[in-house]
Amino acid sequence: MKHLLSTADLSREDAIGLLDVAEEMTQVSTHSVKKLPVLRGHTVVNLFFEDSTRTRISFEAAAKRLSADVINFSAKGSSVSKGESLQDTAQTLGAMGADAVVVRHNGSGTPYRLATTGWIDAGVVNAGDGTHEHPTQALLDSFTLRRTLTGSPASGPGGHARGTDLAGTTVAVVGDILHSRVARSNVHLLTTLGARVVLIAPPTLLPWGVETWPAEVFYDFDEALDAHDFDAVMMLRVQFERMHQSFFPNTREYSRLWGLTAGRYARLPEHTAIMHPGPMNRGFEICAQAADSPRAVILNQVENGVAVRMAVLYSLLTGKEGAL
Ligand code: CP
Repeated sequence: MKHLLSTADLSREDAIGLLDVAEEMTQVSTHSVKKLPVLRGHTVVNLFFEDSTRTRISFEAAAKRLSADVINFSAKGSSVSKGESLQDTAQTLGAMGADAVVVRHNGSGTPYRLATTGWIDAGVVNAGDGTHEHPTQALLDSFTLRRTLTGSPASGPGGHARGTDLAGTTVAVVGDILHSRVARSNVHLLTTLGARVVLIAPPTLLPWGVETWPAEVFYDFDEALDAHDFDAVMMLRVQFERMHQSFFPNTREYSRLWGLTAGRYARLPEHTAIMHPGPMNRGFEICAQAADSPRAVILNQVENGVAVRMAVLYSLLTGKEGAL
């Protein structure tokens, strides 16, 4: 794997291979082994043009736990504010010696440009590009789901999940699908791993062409709950920052019709895992009762993100796709 730009580029075997390497990485990320020397001498550049808490920090932790050097670049406070272009920024960081570039940008396709223009000679990892994709989020979501469904601990070392896919699983993805790179990456990866995907959203927050996606679509959350016993319900944040104000949904109506309210939470089967990529709008798309419940694996998703990103950096920088 030279770059990780989209989950659509991953075969079932690629995806299971990465999740299995991530299983091994949990030994490091849960501190039974402090650090691995496997990326010593490599430099990872975190190139963030958009805000982030989980993705940026977990990529930094992942790189450091594999003994790589890390350079953190944030557009805020950089020469981007003086008008420096993406090309010049990339070439400047490349001149300092980058082996991998982890890029988040509000422009869909920016990681592809970095991977294909030759501006920088480094592996490129898409850490979220506009409304397009967020492949490592989808990988950590599948990792968390796989553990939950195989009865392995939701986080921590060990587990019986290795080698398995998500066949027979039904996952609801609920909310602002239109602006969600998490939804796009998850639809590709979940279906590659054999899961059935059900999208639930108001018609105004679904993209053109959604009927061609490999997913069933509901406009009514309650109808979807009548029709399916979901193994997981993945709530999405409404991305106000990507909408013109005149298109903002009415918050009370949105919450009543498409939120995971206490009433809908009570309707979910006992085994349903509650997921959210974060950051959450509590009380809007998800009630606190659901977010803080024992069925929520939201913090497990965050924890597992470190191991998954270790697996991605390891595979990208060593070219090895199997075990350590
Ligand atoms: N899920 C996610 O991408 O969160 P951050 O924006 O905090 O990185």
